[in-house]
This record gives sequence, C-alpha cells and structure tokens, in this order.
Amino acid sequence: MSRDLAGVPLEAAWRDRLDDLAASRGLPLSGDLGRLGAALREVSDAYNAGDFRFRWTPDRLAARLHFFVPRDQAKVAGALRDVPVSPAWLGSGPALELLDVGAGIGASSLGAVRFLRAAGVTRDIQITLRDVDAEALGVAREVLGALPGVRLRRDEGASPRFDLVLFVQVLVEVAAGRPEAAGDAACAALLRTAVDALAPGGLVVAVEPALLTTTRRLMRARDILAAQNTAIVAPCPHGKPCAMLANPRDWCHDDLDVDLPPWLHPLARAAGLRWQGLTFTRLVLAPTPVATPSMRVVAPLRDSRGRKERQLCGLFPDGSTLRWVDRLDKHTTPANEPFGALRRGDGVCLSPIANRVGPDTRVLLEDPTET
Ligand SMILES: C[S@@+](CC[C@H](N)C(=O)[O-])C[C@H]1O[C@@H](n2cnc3c(N)ncnc32)[C@H](O)[C@@H]1O
Repeated sequence: MSRDLAGVPLEAAWRDRLDDLAASRGLPLSGDLGRLGAALREVSDAYNAGDFRFRWTPDRLAARLHFFVPRDQAKVAGALRDVPVSPAWLGSGPALELLDVGAGIGASSLGAVRFLRAAGVTRDIQITLRDVDAEALGVAREVLGALPGVRLRRDEGASPRFDLVLFVQVLVEVAAGRPEAAGDAACAALLRTAVDALAPGGLVVAVEPALLTTTRRLMRARDILAAQNTAIVAPCPHGKPCAMLANPRDWCHDDLDVDLPPWLHPLARAAGLRWQGLTFTRLVLAPTPVATPSMRVVAPLRDSRGRKERQLCGLFPDGSTLRWVDRLDKHTTPANEPFGALRRGDGVCLSPIANRVGPDTRVLLEDPTET
C-alpha cells in the first residue's frame, strides 16, 4: 500500500491548457498525431541513446509539452508515494520552498505541486527553477504560472533553505560523457550539497529513467551517500551497501500501475511507446533519518509449482540485505496472506524474518505514511 495514485494522471482539462500553450507558441496541437508521433519517436530514441544535444525543433518541443509533461509529472508523486511529509509542511505558514534542478519545461515542478496538494499542503509554494536551457524555463514558467498558490522565484542572489529539491531526469545528463566513477561522484556530490542546504524536514528527490545504466548509476551514487551517513528515505530500507549492485544485470526500479491519461494513448501508439504503467528509478534523501519500511519488494513475483517467491531488500538476521523469500501455496494462512499480493516496490514486514514464510509467519504491508 501507499498513497492513492489514482489522482496522479493529469485531468482531461490539462489537454486544453497544453493546447492553448502550444497554440500561443505556434506549435502543433495534441491532435496532430502525424507530426507529434514522429517527433516523439525522435526525442525518445535520442534520450534512450544518451544523446541530449539534439535540437529542440518546434515539433519536438510540442512532443515534449504534450507527452513528456503529462507522463513525467507523475513520477514525482510516484517517487514520494510512501514518504511521509514533514508535519511542519501542513497547516499555515510561509511559502514552502521548492528547488527544481534541471526543471526543463516544468513537468517535475508540476508533479511536485500536485503531490504536495494531494498530501495536504495548503500553503503557498515558491518554486526556484534551475536549468542550463533558458528557453525551456520560459515554457516552464507558462506551464506553472497559472497554478493556484504557486509563485516562481528568480534563481539569483542568496538561496533560501529549500524544503524540497528535485533532480528529475537530470543526473543522466550531468553524468553523460564522464567516466563511470566521475559520473557517480558528480551525482553524489550534487545530491549531498542539496541535502546540506535543506530546511529541517526537507527532502531531496532524485528520479532517473528506469534503464539499466541510469539506474545503476543512481544505485552507486546512493552507496557513496550512504557511506557519508546521508539518510536514505527511499527506496532502501537500510543504509548498508546495495547488494543488488553485485549482479551487473540487476537494477532496482519502480513499475507502477499508473497509465497515461486516455487522450495520450493514440499519441503513444503513433510513436510506438507504451501508455501502460509508469517506470522510473528513485532516490529520496533527508538530512536526518525518516521512517522507512523494514523490507521492500525489489523484483517481480516468481510464481511456480505451488510456490511464490519475492526478492526482498532489508536487514536479514545474518546481516545480508537481499534475499529471495518464498512461501509454499499450501502454507497460505490468514497471517501470511498479504505475501501473495505483494508487488514490486511494496514495503513489507515479516515476523519472524526468514528465507521461508511459514504458516505462522506474520506478513504485513508496511507504509510509513500510514503510521
Ligand atoms: C530530461 S529533462 C528533465 C526535465 C524535468 N525535470 C522533467 O522531469 O521533465 C533534463 C533537463 O536537465 C537540464 N540540464 C542538463 N544538464 C544540466 C545541468 N548541469 N544543470 C541544470 N540543468 C541541466 C536540461 O537542459 C533539461 O532541460
């Protein structure tokens, strides 16, 4: 369980808003599937190939606006779905300070505002947009400008202490072209600097594409940060070195049941992209420890011959942190029933912790936002 993600996809009214914005800039509208589909395919292929220097033609910018804004805004709520927000953020008070590093055309800030409102934050939100692409920030200001209770702050002079700092799909660009260790170190240093500049109760949220290379880079950066005693809030239930790094084909990522809004299905189809599910990799950090689940499911279910297996990350009694734990179907009881319904990414508590869930093992879904 985690926060309800049903409200995460953009509502249909956003199609009109984005169309108005596109029209005001002379860009293709969302119904122009021929132009948008081709441009979306080009941008998607370039991103997947790690090529971030392509030119933003009007059609590509339109694809970014109509497709990537709705898709990627959802990743912030996905990354924070089981992270408790500071009680200090709720109730009245000065504006919450949000820094969006690599803000692009505003998808991540939009997602953060929507997440905060859904989490009960009613006070104003002041956003500092930071990006090497000034043109993109111009579009971001238009995407975000009309949101109620949102102010945009100029990124100059002394920075405030931020409550929430986002690095959504930007570390991949920061690390591009650097040797592996240098890329890892650069990402870790950026994240650590952001943690050090947080207000009390603040969070740093990094989201990366759910590709093997980008995910493993974030996992290695996480190990550097954990070794510096940075508090890891999600996805890891422990601060020990990541055991999944031992297998070069493994990568710890999310795949949530959040589909694209219906009006984007034809565009996704035109570009040969999927509209089902939301995949990404996350790392949430804080200045001081925050409640985490005791274990997390980190792979899809293995279901065979009367046996269900889950790969769990957490502290096992022998000191290991990654194990396949199984339950024989014939051992299903009310106490361990939830084991059968666990999904990748779920937090879970086993009592006692062992390699096999027996009839007397208690299995509970664990969500720190509900305690
Ligand atoms: C894929 S976009 C992500 C935009 C937005 N965060 C989102 O999730 O939709 C990455 C952005 O990072 C920006 N970027 C790349 N390197 C950067 C750097 N060193 N500092 C700030 N922004 C950077 C790019 O210009 C681009 O707009």
